[in-house]
Amino acid sequence: MVYENIGIVGATGAVGSIIRQLLEERNFPYKTITFLASKRSAGTKLTFRGEEHTVVEMTPDAFNDLDLVIGSTPDETAQEFAPWAIERGCVVIDESGYWRMDKTVPLIVPEVNPEAIKDHKGLIASPNCSTTQMVVAMQPLHAAAKIRRVIVSTYQATSGAGVAGQAELTDSSRASLDGQAYDRKTFAHPIAFNLIPQIGGPKHEGYTSEEMKMVYETRKIFGDDSILVCPTCVRVPVTNCHSESILVETEKPLSAAEATQLFRDFPGITVIDDLANGQYPMPLGCTGNDDVYVGRIRKDLSCENGIAFWCVSDNLRKGAATNAVQIAELLVNSAATV
Ligand SMILES: NC(=O)c1ccc[n+]([C@@H]2O[C@H](COP(=O)([O-])OP(=O)(O)OC[C@H]3O[C@@H](n4cnc5c(N)ncnc54)[C@H](OP(=O)(O)O)[C@@H]3O)[C@@H](O)[C@H]2O)c1
Repeated sequence: MVYENIGIVGATGAVGSIIRQLLEERNFPYKTITFLASKRSAGTKLTFRGEEHTVVEMTPDAFNDLDLVIGSTPDETAQEFAPWAIERGCVVIDESGYWRMDKTVPLIVPEVNPEAIKDHKGLIASPNCSTTQMVVAMQPLHAAAKIRRVIVSTYQATSGAGVAGQAELTDSSRASLDGQAYDRKTFAHPIAFNLIPQIGGPKHEGYTSEEMKMVYETRKIFGDDSILVCPTCVRVPVTNCHSESILVETEKPLSAAEATQLFRDFPGITVIDDLANGQYPMPLGCTGNDDVYVGRIRKDLSCENGIAFWCVSDNLRKGAATNAVQIAELLVNSAATV
C-alpha cells in the first residue's frame, strides 16, 4: 500500500500541533496533507512547510481521498471517525484511549514491539503518555533481566490535559499571584501551587483510569500479563514533560552499574546521572526533545533484585506525537519493503 495522502485529525490540539512540527522536522513523505478538526476550528489557517492550509471539518467524506490518518482527538471522536476512515481504505494511527485495549488493534511503541505492526487491520493505537515513557525505560532491563514487578509514581504535566490544561496552569498561577479568583474549567482542584493525586475517574479497586491504563497497556505492549504494575498518578503544576519515579523488580539480579549501561546502550534513552554534581533529568531540560531521559539510577535498598530510577519525557512528543509519527514511519517503511 502507498501512503501518499495523509490527514491529521485534531491538528489544532496540543498533540496535533507537535505532529505538524514533527512531520516537517522529520521530512515525512507525502503527496497531499489535510488538517482536520471539529466545526469549531474548521476554516482556521495553519502554515505547514511554508504553505497555508485551511482546517477542514471532520466528516465521513473528509476521509474519502486519504490513505493514512494520525488522530489525536478525545476518545469519543476517535470512536466516531476511525470506522469512517477504515471503511474508505485509510489506515488510522490513533493517540486516544478509545481503541488501545481492543484485541484486534496493535498497541505500539516502536522501541519495544515494532513487530506488532504486521497484525494491523487498518487501525494502530499509540499508548497513554505515562505508559510510553515507562515501557521504553523498562525495555532494556526487561530484555536483560525480565521485569516481574513495577512500582511507579507519576508527576504529570498539565499539557497532558491538552491545550486547555496548559492554559489553566498559566492563567490560574497568574490569578493566584495577583490575588484574583479563578474559574476552573479543566482540573477538579486548583493546580497552581498544588498537586492533584487523581488523573481520570475511579476505575478499579481504588485505582484511577489513568493508573489502570499503565497496568493494562504495559502488559499488552510487552505481551506479558504476568508483569505486576502498581501505579500512582499525580498531576503537578509543571507545564510540559511527565516525570516518573520507577522501581522495577527483576527475575535476574542487576547492579546499578549494569542497569546504567543497559540504559546508555538503548536507542531512544538518554542517561543524565551525576548526583554529586546535581545532574539528573528535569522537565525544563527535557521539553522539546524526543528521548526518554533516565537518572538517579540506584539499587533498591528494600528488595534483592530491585532497581530504582527517575524518568522524564516530553509527554507531547515521545508520549504522543513522536510515538505516532514513528509508527507512521514504520508503516511507510514496511510498505516500501513489501
Ligand atoms: N496531551 C498529551 O500529553 C497526550 C499524550 C498522549 C495521548 N494523548 C491523547 O491525545 C488526544 C488529544 O489530546 P490533546 O492533548 O492534543 O487534546 P487537545 O489539545 O484538547 O486537542 C484536541 C483536538 O481534537 C479536536 N477535536 C475535539 N473534538 C473534535 C470533534 N468532535 N471532531 C473533530 N476534532 C475534534 C480538537 O479540535 P478543535 O480545535 O476543533 O476543538 C483538537 O484539535 C486525547 O485523546 C489524549 O488523551 C494526549
